[in-house]
Amino acid sequence: MEHEELLTKRKGKIAFLYLNRPEKFNALNISLLDKINLALKEISKDDKIRVIILTGIGEKAFAAGADISEFSEFKSNEALGLSKKGKEKVFDFIEDFSKPVIAAINGYALGGGLELALSCDIRIASNNALMGFPEASLGTIPGYGGTYRLAEIVGKGIAKEMILTCRKINSKEALQIGLISHLTKKNELLEKAVQVANEIILNSPNAATSAIKIINYSGRESKKTCSEIESKYFSECFDHPEFKKGVSAFLNKQKPNF
Ligand code: COA
Repeated sequence: MEHEELLTKRKGKIAFLYLNRPEKFNALNISLLDKINLALKEISKDDKIRVIILTGIGEKAFAAGADISEFSEFKSNEALGLSKKGKEKVFDFIEDFSKPVIAAINGYALGGGLELALSCDIRIASNNALMGFPEASLGTIPGYGGTYRLAEIVGKGIAKEMILTCRKINSKEALQIGLISHLTKKNELLEKAVQVANEIILNSPNAATSAIKIINYSGRESKKTCSEIESKYFSECFDHPEFKKGVSAFLNKQKPNF
């Protein structure tokens, strides 16, 4: 599982994906996006992997955005393809991935880098991280789902302020607005991500997959549709062997082993 611009590592039930272009602040070029897609497809086939932790190599950046040098000469039709393909291969792909993905934000998460983190299920950042959308300073807007995902997570007012001002916020502010759920010291970031992953691993993988699906529906469908989908997935859990396992462990005063 070794890709040059993306390093992958496995430790027990956790897969680690490391964005590995430190000399370019892990800027997301097309080849790196392809490698993320490939790695996730491999991981999806491996039932033993339960959680993915995505982070950046180096001390400076999670990812400082899409690779500006790749699109600087683009016209609108090429930009449309870039946005649509990027969403299909990585950003929407991660949001709808069957296993939980944790973004461990170890430095700059700007533009596409922040969009990548926003696609993940959970975000944790170290105290040296800076997050923001500089696109408007380049004459454009986020194109990998950042506009609506940021608004969903932090609310429209703060999303508009961040995108219109291009201001970078630190981890403390990100925690206050709910953009991240934990703030750690620089050298404790992965430890915290692993701790959260291990808490997830204690519970039913089928429940995790179902919950992610339904939570994602909440931004896309009406409340009525979400209600129907939730009831459907909820009821289907009752026919799954993990439900029997979880309930019988509880009744026998034991911990279930999922
Ligand atoms: N695309 C392509 N290359 C990038 C990049 C990006 N998004 N972000 C950083 N890099 C490259 C720089 O070009 C530079 O490469 P070089 O040494 O070959 O010139 C290297 O990474 C280091 O960046 P540099 O700007 O020299 O570091 P810095 O510490 O002065 O500033 C940032 C760091 C992140 C603030 C700055 O690089 C930056 O603003 N990057 C662009 C962020 C952005 O606009 N992202 C949204 C893109 S849509």
